[in-house]
Amino acid sequence: MNKLYETFNEFFFNDRPVKLIFSDKRRKSIEFKKVTIRPIMAKEGLAYQAEYTFDKKATHKNILQENIAEFCCELVTESFKQVNVFTDNFDIQILAAKPGNPRVTKKPSTLGCCNLTHNRVKNYVIPDGKPCDFLIRLGVMDKSGKVIPKHYSKFRQINRYLEIVEDVFPYLPKHENKPLKIIDFGCGKAYLTFAIYYYLKVLKGRNVKIVGLDLKKDVIDFCNRVAADLKYDELKFLPGDIADYSDDHADMVVTLHACDTATDYALINAVVWNTKVILSVPCCQHELFSQIENDIHAPMLKHGILKDRLTEYLTDGLRALKLEACGYNVALIEFTSLEHTARNIMIKAVKGGSCNSAKSKKAQSQYEALRDFYHVNPTIDKLTRNPSD
Ligand SMILES: C[S@@+](CC[C@H](N)C(=O)[O-])C[C@H]1O[C@@H](n2cnc3c(N)ncnc32)[C@H](O)[C@@H]1O
Repeated sequence: MNKLYETFNEFFFNDRPVKLIFSDKRRKSIEFKKVTIRPIMAKEGLAYQAEYTFDKKATHKNILQENIAEFCCELVTESFKQVNVFTDNFDIQILAAKPGNPRVTKKPSTLGCCNLTHNRVKNYVIPDGKPCDFLIRLGVMDKSGKVIPKHYSKFRQINRYLEIVEDVFPYLPKHENKPLKIIDFGCGKAYLTFAIYYYLKVLKGRNVKIVGLDLKKDVIDFCNRVAADLKYDELKFLPGDIADYSDDHADMVVTLHACDTATDYALINAVVWNTKVILSVPCCQHELFSQIENDIHAPMLKHGILKDRLTEYLTDGLRALKLEACGYNVALIEFTSLEHTARNIMIKAVKGGSCNSAKSKKAQSQYEALRDFYHVNPTIDKLTRNPSD
């Protein structure tokens, strides 16, 4: 049943399904006609609710995120031959007359996309209209909790980020006696760092210690003043260069628009520290622009704009492969819609295996082939895999 499990696992990891419908019963004796699964917000974070539809009634069951792929597999194996999955970007159909050999087809999203957008507006982690201390202090909301119109896109960006933090919440370790450690590299004015603190400490009640690091001393002083005003005692800001900051550890590393190779140094730190979760939105991927060489692509690369875009995607593609080679499950997801910023791809990575697995070894050889095909020498190459890991 591995293939089926992997299929579901991938949907739940890469996309956020809005709805799954299980239909076409395996046997007449099965009493319910179909099962519909939708995401819900539970105390523990993101979870799912399954609705069993009978002739004259419906019953419900809640499933934790970590068990959902297995639950879906069981529904297919025991009860249904067909599943329709609606995600942000795709409508997916699974036909599984033989559960061991499911047929999967994917089409661009129709209805799911609109519904999800609608739900998300209603279900922002931090709602418009409800006072939130750090957003008021940073001037995004007024004192009554209304978002100031010119800051609406920042407000949306923060909520989108928190939605993704919510998705990875179940993967964060639960330490008995020490806080969950998080580092935001290249934190700037730290809207995001404050937001993560607010979400984990204030809303979720987790014991956390969060550090924001940035080159700019004046920005760091400002952020420390804001944290003190808000009494966010476990949130500290330090001046420093990511490339020199290695003597620490973290359960989660985040970066939002840390420029060019600063992102690589953040990723390298995270992997060396065996960090469980990485959320990184790169930007200004300039490094490979002056390095790339490829005879077949040369006629295309003479156009600066194409060279720029190709090297941007190549940089992030190589980063993703390198993380996979180091035992991470990696998804590149859309962070915010393109109308907000062109810098909208997020690398979401969760440590899930060892460098010695067949999957990691394959990723390493794919990484080397891609790197050598374009004759580049990216900073992420400094990350050597630890064979004992
Ligand atoms: C575009 S800003 C993003 C700030 C913030 N993360 C946000 O999204 O609002 C990039 C930040 O990364 C910082 N930065 C760039 N390179 C860095 C490095 N090597 N070490 C530490 N900070 C760095 C810059 O000082 C700047 O504040």
